[in-house]
Amino acid sequence: MTSLHERPPVGAVGEAVAHESAPQHVTGYALYTDDLGVRLQNLLHAWPVNAPHAHARVTRLDTAPALKVPGVVRVLTAADVPGVNDAGVKGDEPLFPTEVMYHGHAVCWVLAESLEAARLGANAVQVAYEPLPSIVTVHEAIAAEAFQGAQSTLRRGDVALGFSQARHVFEGEFEMGGQEHFYLETNAALAYVDESGQVFIQSSTQHPSETQEIAAHVLGLPSSEVTVQCLRMGGGFGGKEMQPHGYAAIAALGATLTGRPVRLRLNRTQDITMTGKRHPFHAKWKVAFDSDGKLLALQATLTSDGGWSLDLSEPVMARALCHIDNAYFIPHVEVHGRIARTNKTSQTAFRGFGGPQGMLVMEDILGRCAPRLGLDAHELRRRNFYQPGEATPYGQPVRHAERLEDLWAQLLQRSDFEARRQEVRAFNAAHEHMKRGLAITPVKFGISFNFTAYNQAGALVHVYKDGSVLINHGGTEMGQGLHTKMIQVAATTLGVPPERVRLAPTRTDKVPNTSATAASSGADLNGGAVKDACEQIKARLAAVAAGSLSSAGRAHVASLGVHPQDVRFENGKVYPLGHPDHSLSFEHVVHDAYYLRTQLWAAGFYRTPGLHWDRERMQGEPFKYFSFGASVSEVEVDGFTGAYRLKRVDILHDVGDSLSPLIDLGQVEGGFVQGAGWLTLEELRWDESAGPGRGRLLTQAASTYKLPSFSEMPGVFNVALLERATETGVVYGSKAVGEPPLMLAMSVREALREACTAFGTGGREQPLRSPATPEAVFWALQEARESVPEEVPGDD
Ligand code: MTE
Ligand code: MOS
Repeated sequence: MTSLHERPPVGAVGEAVAHESAPQHVTGYALYTDDLGVRLQNLLHAWPVNAPHAHARVTRLDTAPALKVPGVVRVLTAADVPGVNDAGVKGDEPLFPTEVMYHGHAVCWVLAESLEAARLGANAVQVAYEPLPSIVTVHEAIAAEAFQGAQSTLRRGDVALGFSQARHVFEGEFEMGGQEHFYLETNAALAYVDESGQVFIQSSTQHPSETQEIAAHVLGLPSSEVTVQCLRMGGGFGGKEMQPHGYAAIAALGATLTGRPVRLRLNRTQDITMTGKRHPFHAKWKVAFDSDGKLLALQATLTSDGGWSLDLSEPVMARALCHIDNAYFIPHVEVHGRIARTNKTSQTAFRGFGGPQGMLVMEDILGRCAPRLGLDAHELRRRNFYQPGEATPYGQPVRHAERLEDLWAQLLQRSDFEARRQEVRAFNAAHEHMKRGLAITPVKFGISFNFTAYNQAGALVHVYKDGSVLINHGGTEMGQGLHTKMIQVAATTLGVPPERVRLAPTRTDKVPNTSATAASSGADLNGGAVKDACEQIKARLAAVAAGSLSSAGRAHVASLGVHPQDVRFENGKVYPLGHPDHSLSFEHVVHDAYYLRTQLWAAGFYRTPGLHWDRERMQGEPFKYFSFGASVSEVEVDGFTGAYRLKRVDILHDVGDSLSPLIDLGQVEGGFVQGAGWLTLEELRWDESAGPGRGRLLTQAASTYKLPSFSEMPGVFNVALLERATETGVVYGSKAVGEPPLMLAMSVREALREACTAFGTGGREQPLRSPATPEAVFWALQEARESVPEEVPGDD
């Protein structure tokens, strides 16, 4: 047995292959949860009754008029719930609420023969509400001290001491917006009951085991009587980690009560107004630097806008606190985190899971303070990088900290940073109304779930008599290429061509007790489990092959005999070490193994070793390792309108030894663009007025909620993966890739800040709102134009 990270000389891992479903994706043959309904007879359709208040009590609910609408079969209300009327894991998310907590909250669901009938039925349901006072903005929540869940503090050293020793102390506030997931496939569920009463739910869920658990507790059934399957998702981005449970439960409840299959798919308006988003954050901070610009102390209070229920807000805050340092060593730290309760959708996981929010606070601080310290921002950043041997504020040593400097230096060179800085300067000097900005920012992102127990995975691998292979694992596919990687891992471990390996949909009756496919750890965890299962099978096959290879007709090899440990599996061939010419086919060995009564399947398991985390004290080693990266962005800003173009982006990112380079490249590009969307374009607006629409999401569609598209892609986009980056202790030496690249987009924001600065005389703090929409950029550059420089650097 080799160690987890070692690769055989030949194998599918590391090959640049297309996504396993790419042909189906582009031809429309790939099916998603809601596509499966048309294959069922007697299908019922579900439609919600949405409350038109941010906060209200339901004083009367009359479903009778709906039942008179032709085609309406049933209206589901709280009275129908045989188990627990709750859709979450915290007990604060009533599935059928008596108190409306946000505008759009579903108070009941109508089932009908057609979607249209269900919609008309929902319109006919009569609900009386008693409006209650509501909290819509995070400022209102702070003023009212409306918080929910645990408040936590990350602490190291003594900030008072740090401030007293400092040459410079600055204070500020910062706010950043949330983000809509805008997955192409909206939340969907399809449920039916089989002849023995087994409930089967197809769900667009990143966490089938939890969807199973919640549906079971709503139905009052043991988990063994509920099966959840996820074929694939059309994007999840964290938005399907917790949010799908309630919809699956509604479909399952409808199916058990009517005996008919029930389909529930939110349309875009419903999905965007009913489901949670990235948490907006408010930050208040005080920071200290020494005379060299080295960080001495950081004191901050982060307040996230959690929306109406807790959902994943606590772990999101934990990750924000664990990433506020980003790539920088800060000796004295005291950061408080608290979660506002507002009458909005329940904010949830979104790629980066609080990490981006924490890191953005720090990058904003550095971007704003650099001119006040008389330093270039990129120099200030470099000076503060973690050095080997240093640890994070939560006590985890930063292994491979030298990679930060390394990536940085390589990227400065690859992007021709110095020469382009001169060009930008020359351009800005020559253009009064058009300015360019160039910036580089780093990423350090911790990989593993902060919650230690989640860092486990299972797999089930079958080898059939003909030598074909079927794998199941606990991870879900949402476009990120996890299934492609798992096929590559299985093929490599068994030494067969990837075409021999088929992957079956994720199901809770195949692999139980799985964690969410999240925290970017899908490939690390499930890859470990798939490899374990394949190795068990391979060891048994090796014993058989040793015998077969030693017997009849294998000349000089046979005369020596073959030890099972010296049997090699490579590309469908099985041969004695050193004698590839004396091979048997994999099929041949499998055939022999069957007749020798050898078990040809195995369950694999993996748990990430070496993790520990004290949630109360916020101390420990919650991460297996860190992912590193850096990006350089150049922008051009129009001084009349604030409109800008992303001219060029250069990225160097660390994925260890890539399991699948094409997939990883796509993840880096996609993550970056999604991050740029969050930071520059996507702006959620809610009705904050006192009028009747209070609490309503105003940006309900792509027409008002601006997503990045091809036209926002950088003109030049160079992405490279760090070479010779083997990560020991991870499957085939790779690193997670799903989330970290999102935060590479911070260089876009910093480049915009540089460009805004260039409209003025510089030498002053240049604030910039987030998202840095053209409007925000316009006001920022306007401020730069009108300002007079401060004395630099000054004592504070
Ligand atoms: N890529 C695509 N195409 N679609 C997605 O929904 N989700 C992201 C990332 N990349 C996502 C994606 C998020 S939030 C996470 S946590 C990871 O993929 C999850 O998958 P992994 O653990 O297999 O990387
Ligand atoms: Mo990703 S936000 O961890 O689903």
